[in-house]
Amino acid sequence: MDVWILESAQAVAVKAADICAELIQAKPDARLGLATGATPQALYAELVRRNQLGQLSFARVETFNLDEYLGVGPNQPRSFHHAMRDSLFDHVDIDPINTHLPAGDAADPAAEAAAYDALIKARGGIDLQILGIGRNGHIGFNEPGSSLRSRTRVKTLSRATLRDNQLGKPDFEAPVMAITMGIGTILDARALLVLATGWAKAPAVAAALEGPLSARCPASAIQLHPDATVVLDPAAAADLRLTEYYELVDRARRHLASH
Ligand code: GLP
Repeated sequence: MDVWILESAQAVAVKAADICAELIQAKPDARLGLATGATPQALYAELVRRNQLGQLSFARVETFNLDEYLGVGPNQPRSFHHAMRDSLFDHVDIDPINTHLPAGDAADPAAEAAAYDALIKARGGIDLQILGIGRNGHIGFNEPGSSLRSRTRVKTLSRATLRDNQLGKPDFEAPVMAITMGIGTILDARALLVLATGWAKAPAVAAALEGPLSARCPASAIQLHPDATVVLDPAAAADLRLTEYYELVDRARRHLASH
């Protein structure tokens, strides 16, 4: 696991954009796994900025989002489809046909979930999966107790997640279920890019990176991935115990880069 503790949330976004850009430059038809929520918004803004400056093209990029609310159609304002168009797809040169999210309004949600999992495999798998972490340690909508080998399926949201999703949005009626990639599906990605910013995430980040591998903290499954990069601001990193080691690694990295 490669842990970066950077000076600010903006620095986290820039580092994450650098990692995405490096992949897309090396592989213009890269398959990116995307997340919603507040955390990746600054990353998406940075990707839009680079695209509009002509530095980065999404013309051949294909994307797969982690999840979508159950019973919510793609044009409903509270859908993740809508959120993704709003924050990224509508502002870059991506072909909408190459942007995938589970259909929350599918007549048969279990079949839709299985088909989504199969589609990811059929397209060749995800090259880089971007992940945020819920305050309760969830990734996607894999709530505490989720099987560490789960595939894309319907999950019921925890009370904590419902509360978090409602925060600051009095008119938002938070759906109680979602279709989410499973933890096994997420771990199939060739590389993971985990982002967390702010004090509220500090306990979940510590449990994910340094706690025991446990379904109690679904994000701890990233410990099983051979190519996981975690980018944090100081607040999100506040509860980590191995900080001295991460700093040592950082110094070694800079030393290598300067030679
Ligand atoms: C949401 C999403 C996750 C996201 C997480 C954290 O409910 N399903 O994909 O990473 O919770 O959200 P935020 O970044 O807003 O804190």
